[in-house]
Amino acid sequence: MRILVLSLLALGGCTPCPAAPTQAELTDGRVVAPHQQPLPLLVSVKDLMGGAIAFSAHVVETIDAIDAPLARGDWGAARLAASDLIASATLLTTPTTNGNVLDAFRKRDGEWRVLTKSMQDAGLDIVAAADARDRPALTAARRSLGEACQACHVHFGVHGQ
Ligand code: HEC
Repeated sequence: MRILVLSLLALGGCTPCPAAPTQAELTDGRVVAPHQQPLPLLVSVKDLMGGAIAFSAHVVETIDAIDAPLARGDWGAARLAASDLIASATLLTTPTTNGNVLDAFRKRDGEWRVLTKSMQDAGLDIVAAADARDRPALTAARRSLGEACQACHVHFGVHGQ
């Protein structure tokens, strides 16, 4: 009887039971329950650019332009600004659900994800530089970031940015 109760508890009453997700499956996005689906993207590429992306890139540039050893707070601010860029890259590759035809059209271009990944990679390099307090690495990553912005603007004919 005791064994039966224990096995019922373990099964949770279902037959057959799905295997419990592993830690890796829970954190790499393979297991996504309906209530875990991302919320829809309700802002345009233009607003993401003019908002979080331009602001964060400006923070990184300003910090890298400081002509003195960086303070702890500077490294922290550079790290957080880069985190915004890394997260914004995910938003840039999230399907458009706000009816913006131009955004949806751009995202159909095979280069969109590649160019966005360059920006995300530069952000990751900035975080690594900040964690290591490595000034030359910060400057190199800041340059890669600028190149990533420019490459996409050239590809999509965005002028003046
Ligand atoms: C994947 C492509 C892509 C990347 C990467 C990218 N941009 Fe853009 N950006 C665009 C497009 C497309 C527009 C035009 C949006 C529109 O007007 O609809 C734009 C517009 C802008 C604008 C003008 C926003 C406005 O209000 O008119 C700014 C500022 C900007 N980008 C900054 C940046 C910065 C800084 C980076 C890098 C940190 C960057 N962008 C990276 C594609 C990109």
